[in-house]
Amino acid sequence: MNAFDQTQDRRAFLRTAMGLAAGASAWPMLATASGVAAAADAATGTSASSAPALQSGARRSVIIDCDPGQDDAIAILFALGASDRLDVRAITTVAGNVPLNLTERNARIVRDWAERSQSLPVYAGCPRPLTRELITAANVHGKTGLEGVPLHEPLAPLTPQHAVAFLIDTLRGAPTHSVTLCALGPLTNLATAFTEAPEIRNGIREIVLMGGAFFERGNITPAAEFNIYVDPQAAQVVFASGVPIVVLPRDVAVKAPITPARIAPIRALGNRCGTMAADIMAAEVAYQKGRRGVEEAPMYDPCATGYLIEPSLFKGREVNVMIETIGEWTLGETVVDWSGHSGRKPNATWITEVDADGFYAALRARLATLP
Ligand code: BDR
Ligand code: CA
Repeated sequence: MNAFDQTQDRRAFLRTAMGLAAGASAWPMLATASGVAAAADAATGTSASSAPALQSGARRSVIIDCDPGQDDAIAILFALGASDRLDVRAITTVAGNVPLNLTERNARIVRDWAERSQSLPVYAGCPRPLTRELITAANVHGKTGLEGVPLHEPLAPLTPQHAVAFLIDTLRGAPTHSVTLCALGPLTNLATAFTEAPEIRNGIREIVLMGGAFFERGNITPAAEFNIYVDPQAAQVVFASGVPIVVLPRDVAVKAPITPARIAPIRALGNRCGTMAADIMAAEVAYQKGRRGVEEAPMYDPCATGYLIEPSLFKGREVNVMIETIGEWTLGETVVDWSGHSGRKPNATWITEVDADGFYAALRARLATLP
């Protein structure tokens, strides 16, 4: 294939990944992104929807990439309740637990709960994985993606820029190693941005992601965890990116299970966000009770935001992680070289331990600061 064909091929791939029609170009959208965002600001009366200049400082600048999703919703609230530690600049959404039109809507609903509809932009990203058909988890999260709570019409619209374009604009303009990406869903948006503009990796401090399983079995197949299984090709791009990665896998999610006893103090807060979180957790426990007969559910995505807020609650090790992208029975498996057999250099910190009581105390304290 000559260079021209390769370029055409790459453009076709990116158009597909970003959900653009055949013949449409990703390039004009990227070039005019700030113009579109400025128009959105005028329409919504907010000033947060353009790609902001991210500043370094004591607080981490964070972009949350997610597919809400019950546990994504709690993870977002947890982060928003920790504004002394985290400067959440935007939420980017991806197809995963439910299709993209629902994940972006749910993200806007969750920001409303926290009364952030005017100050926290939400961007919609890729509607399907890089090469595979979308698999959702609506059986777990419900048809809406937020089973267990009443849903309202979101108070504010999406910011009309593709999430990938937003990531590229923002990371390009960011100081070196200044932005933390917190990824709570399939890694399609991140992989597409890295493929389109590899230089943006320089703006990233680290990627903290929920995904994978090693000491624990998979939850979508015997071998694979959902986020990685939905888009293993994207996960491969991200794990090969050279950006520092912290992985909050199923191994740690099952060590901080949601139980009725842990929900009660959160419900007792009595505020809107505490009640929403408690209702969602109760729905997660009810699902697991029906499926496995146990009154507890793994605590997934909030472990990632919890790690950002209180890293001392977690322990892990630097290891090499490879993603299985072709296995007949093991597609999406995270192959962790725990014993050093491969000789490959570490590319991630794999978290295995959490102080579960400390985690729930932190979650409760942070939810208490919200409306
Ligand atoms: C992950 O998959 C999704 O269903 C959850 O939101 C979480 O991100 C757990 O495997
Ligand atoms: Ca998720």
